[in-house]
Amino acid sequence: MTDSHQPSAAAEEQRHLRTIKSFVMRAGRMTEGQQRGLDQGWPQFGLELQAGAQDFDALFGRSAPRTFEIGFGMGHSLLEMAAAAPEQDFIGVEVHKPGVGALLNGLMTQNLGNVRVYSCDALEVLRHCVSDASLDRLLLFFPDPWHKSRHHKRRIVQPGFAELVRQKLKVGGVLHMATDWQPYAEYMLEVLSAAPGYRNLAADGQYVPRPPERPITKFERRGERLGHGVWDLKFQRSE
Ligand SMILES: C[S@@+](CC[C@H](N)C(=O)[O-])C[C@H]1O[C@@H](n2cnc3c(N)ncnc32)[C@H](O)[C@@H]1O
Repeated sequence: MTDSHQPSAAAEEQRHLRTIKSFVMRAGRMTEGQQRGLDQGWPQFGLELQAGAQDFDALFGRSAPRTFEIGFGMGHSLLEMAAAAPEQDFIGVEVHKPGVGALLNGLMTQNLGNVRVYSCDALEVLRHCVSDASLDRLLLFFPDPWHKSRHHKRRIVQPGFAELVRQKLKVGGVLHMATDWQPYAEYMLEVLSAAPGYRNLAADGQYVPRPPERPITKFERRGERLGHGVWDLKFQRSE
């Protein structure tokens, strides 16, 4: 095989991202509210990966600042952000069905029209459904840290992830990540600092102070009481 037939590092990285999943599908009992969310909310707010590329302006019926959240968990932060910013649009992606049901139930209860939801791998959604240079913000709050070194390959933050996100952000758009696991924060910093086309928005070149627009969760409040840290990172697409 000649060198020209060797897979490039970027192609290898993309294949890695396609085959290794950053999540485990957990079986979870559904509460009545979550089931109601899935049954009644999905037709209104749910989007299918199979539908492919989306025209989000057409879908929301307007052209507004657009945020994409990966792994919204039970949806508490997403609901709070969407309720606080009705002039903005939000796309949330989560694989955990009870969480999807909880968010949908919240959207119906609060009568919010500025959120759409996918229930599948967010990386697939980014690749197949989101146009390049179309997002103002991409949020990744408390992603699974995959503590053990043999599991680090399952961390969602990888060089290929940084490049995929950069393509989907507008120039000037921001990737905002938060974690309560310092080694993961350091790893995020290392990966994004080495990724081309980004500028770290932290004044000290590392972490930004807790941004007021990131809702504080119950879990984080508990961590604060126990003296645990949280690290926020913001990287802006520069080119
Ligand atoms: C530790 S939880 C944090 C949830 C939430 N962001 C919070 O702060 O409470 C990480 C979540 O990301 C989801 N997740 C991980 N990888 C994902 C992916 N590739 N696409 C969609 N969801 C993902 C998991 O299912 C899990 O619910």
